[in-house]
Amino acid sequence: MKPATFVLFGATGDLAKRKIYPALYQLFVDQKLPSSFSLIGLGRRELSHETFQSNVEQSLLNFSRSEVKDAAVIKKFLRAFRYQVLDVERKEDYTKLLRVVEEREEELNITPNRMFYLSVGPEFFETIATNIHESGLGSVDGWKRLVIEKPFGHDLESARHLNQKLNQAFDETEIYRIDHYLGKPMVQQMGQLLHSALSEQELRSRSMASIQISANETLGVEERAGYYDHAGAIRDMFQNHMLQLLMMLTIELPNRSSVEEVGPLKRKIIKSLQPLHKMDVKHHIVRGQYGAGEIKEGQVVGYTNEPGIASDSQNDTFIAARLQSNDPFWKDIPLYIRTGKRLKEKVTRIVIEFKLEGPLKDLLIIEIGPNEGIFFQKSQSVQEHSEGELPIRNQVSFLKEGVTDAYESLIYDALMGDKTYFAHWDEVELSWEWVQPILEAYQENLLPLHIYPAGSFGPLEADELLARDGFHWWFDNKNASNDEATQGNVPTYHYNT
Ligand SMILES: NC(=O)c1ccc[n+]([C@@H]2O[C@H](COP(=O)([O-])OP(=O)(O)OC[C@H]3O[C@@H](n4cnc5c(N)ncnc54)[C@H](OP(=O)(O)O)[C@@H]3O)[C@@H](O)[C@H]2O)c1
Repeated sequence: MKPATFVLFGATGDLAKRKIYPALYQLFVDQKLPSSFSLIGLGRRELSHETFQSNVEQSLLNFSRSEVKDAAVIKKFLRAFRYQVLDVERKEDYTKLLRVVEEREEELNITPNRMFYLSVGPEFFETIATNIHESGLGSVDGWKRLVIEKPFGHDLESARHLNQKLNQAFDETEIYRIDHYLGKPMVQQMGQLLHSALSEQELRSRSMASIQISANETLGVEERAGYYDHAGAIRDMFQNHMLQLLMMLTIELPNRSSVEEVGPLKRKIIKSLQPLHKMDVKHHIVRGQYGAGEIKEGQVVGYTNEPGIASDSQNDTFIAARLQSNDPFWKDIPLYIRTGKRLKEKVTRIVIEFKLEGPLKDLLIIEIGPNEGIFFQKSQSVQEHSEGELPIRNQVSFLKEGVTDAYESLIYDALMGDKTYFAHWDEVELSWEWVQPILEAYQENLLPLHIYPAGSFGPLEADELLARDGFHWWFDNKNASNDEATQGNVPTYHYNT
C-alpha cells in the first residue's frame, strides 16, 4: 500500500470518535495501514497534538472492537496523529494546512498521496472541496481522494449541484461516497453466498413470488433531531441504504457478477424501476411517524415530543414502498422495502418468498444485522410435531471470515483506491430521480402521515400495502413480547443449522 496522508475534517466529531479512529486502529493492528501513514485532524477548537492524541486514545478505549491494552502499540499508532485548527470557511487556514501536510510528507519522506475525509456536516462539502482545490492542497504528484459521508444532497437538484461543485476539484474516480451498508461483509458477499446456497437453476425453477427488504430500528431520533427532522426516513435511509441494498441483491441474481461489473449492473437495475408519478405515490408508498408507545426499555414519547422536534412536525420516521422493475427477470416480482424508527424489532433482513400453494412458503432469508447468515426455510411437514406442519430453517451459508466493521473495510478500500463498494454518482443520481416524486408528494401533502405506536411494526397501512397483492411482512411477530422481538426470537420456525 502506498504511503498516505489522511486529512480528517471533523476530527473532534462523533463519527470520528465512534467509527473512524477505532477502524484505523484495527487496520493498524491488522497491518493494513500504509507503513508510512500520517493523519492530520482538523476542527475549530484549539487542541494540542497531545490532547488530540489522548482524545483519540479515549475513543479507542470506548469504541474499539478489539482490546486496547498494549501501551506500546497504542503509542506507535498515535505517533501518526497531528492536530490543526481549521475553520472550513477561512481560506488562510487551508494555506496553513498545506504547510503542515507538506512538512509531514517531507519528514516521512513520502510522495504526496492525500486522502481528504469529510466527517463534517454536508453544508460544508462544497466549501471544503473548493478550498482544497484553490489552496493547492489538491495538487499532488501522487493520488488525491475525497471521502464523503452521507447525505449526498437533499433532493435531486441539490445532489446535482453538489456533484457539479465537487467535480471542479475532484473527478468521479477520486470521489468515494460512503454508504456504510456497502461496507457490511454480508452485503458485499450476499451474492456469492446466495449462489453457493442455491444454483441459478434452482432460483429460477423455484420462481420468486416477492422480495422484502426491512431495516427496522428500535431507536428513536436520539441526539440527531436537527438533522433528522429535515431528512426523515426517506432521505436518511431509503434513498441511500435501502436502494443500495436492493441494487446489491438484484445485481447478483440471476447472474453472479465480478467486481468490475458491479457498477453497471447496479445502474441497470435502478434504471429498470418503474418511475412513480407524484399523484400515484399514495398507491405505492406508506408514510409514517411514531407516536408514544412502549419499547423494551419502557414507555417512550412520540416523535413530536422528542427534544428538538417541533410539536407539529410532519416528518416521516417510517416508509414502506412497493417497487416494480421492468427488467425481464424481475418484471413480475413485487419488491417491498420498509424502514423505520421505534419499531418493535431491530433487524435488517431480506426475505425472498417463493411461489407455493398453501399457507407455508419456501423462503430464502438473508440476515444482515444484528446477526448475519443466509437461511433457507422450507415448508415441510414435521410429522412428530402435534401442530402438524412447521417450517424448518436451515442455515445454508454464513460468513467464513471474522467480523469486519464496515468502516474498516471502506477506509481500507479507499486507501487502496478500490471504489467497488462506494456509491457511484450515477447510482446516487438515479436513486434521487426515483425518490423525487415521493419528496414532492410529501411536500404537497398528497399522502397521509400515519401515526404508529412506538414498539409496533409500523402503520397498519404498511401491512395493507402487501395484503393487496396477497402477501404479508414475514416474521412480524405481533404477539411476541418486546424482549422476544428485539432478540430476534421468532418462535414459529425451527433452526436446523
Ligand atoms: N455520527 C454518525 O453516526 C454519522 C453516521 C453517518 C453519517 N454521519 C455524517 O458524518 C458527518 C459528521 O457527523 P458527526 O456526527 O461526527 O458530526 P458532529 O459530531 O457534529 O461533528 C462535526 C465536526 O465538524 C466540525 N466542524 C463543525 N463546524 C466546523 C467548521 N465551521 N469548520 C471546521 N470544522 C467544523 C466539528 O469540530 P469543531 O466543533 O471543533 O469545529 C466536529 O469535529 C456528517 O455529515 C453526518 O451526517 C454521521
